[in-house]
Amino acid sequence: MPKAKIASLTKERAERQRITSLTAYDFPTAKILDESGVDIILVGDSMGNVVLGYKDTLPVTVADIVHHTKAVRAGVANALLVADVPLTAFKNGHDEALKNVRLIIEAGADAVKIEGVEHKKVIKQLVDGGISVMGHIGYTPQTSDKIGGATIKGKTYESCAVLMEQAAQLEGAGVFAIVVELVDREASSMITASLRIPTIGIGSGPFCDGQVLVLHDMIGMYQGKTPKYVKKYCDVSALIRNAVLEYCEDVRGNVYPS
Ligand code: KIV
Repeated sequence: MPKAKIASLTKERAERQRITSLTAYDFPTAKILDESGVDIILVGDSMGNVVLGYKDTLPVTVADIVHHTKAVRAGVANALLVADVPLTAFKNGHDEALKNVRLIIEAGADAVKIEGVEHKKVIKQLVDGGISVMGHIGYTPQTSDKIGGATIKGKTYESCAVLMEQAAQLEGAGVFAIVVELVDREASSMITASLRIPTIGIGSGPFCDGQVLVLHDMIGMYQGKTPKYVKKYCDVSALIRNAVLEYCEDVRGNVYPS
């Protein structure tokens, strides 16, 4: 089943249909996204920022991803469910990382996403063992401190060449798609043209094969700093706040229950 969904993404790319992707971390939200026809639902380690209240994604554990993947699985019938492999999954070496990925797959993920090329060996071994892996290049939050933070990557000829080489290495290792985050639009266009697999852009302009956003950013649910490239489609925080204020007023004024 996951293989068929992945094949349909490659077909969408060939037919120049844009691939849609959003994050979800719980059952009801996953169900809404799935019923709305989103192609890829990502249990991102962005849960660290937008759901668990951490300052970044670094403390997210395999147990966190497993827990949220189970909830999302319950709400997803059609989309491809991809779960992030958090940085902590790699802290005890190669074999432990493989075991951690298996736990995430057992929790219900169709595929996993792994940031950067440094885990290329793990990626290749997983793919050879039948596990579908998505790559992630450009701005990779798990190694933010090593790559100069959340700035646009690939602006110079040299940095664009590095990204293209990374993308080629990941394609060679067998990933089925690559997230291209915060990459200069011309560079992401060149990366996309150089690959046979789809690219999914975030903050990288319009030339990737698909787009992904963190749901809590695009619906105005997250009240922290939101990247400039995010289009805010609604203001869920305001909706919730107004409903809660009205409820409190009703209860205090003996209006509800009537
Ligand atoms: O963790 C996440 O949500 C992600 C997306 C931003 C691509 O990696």
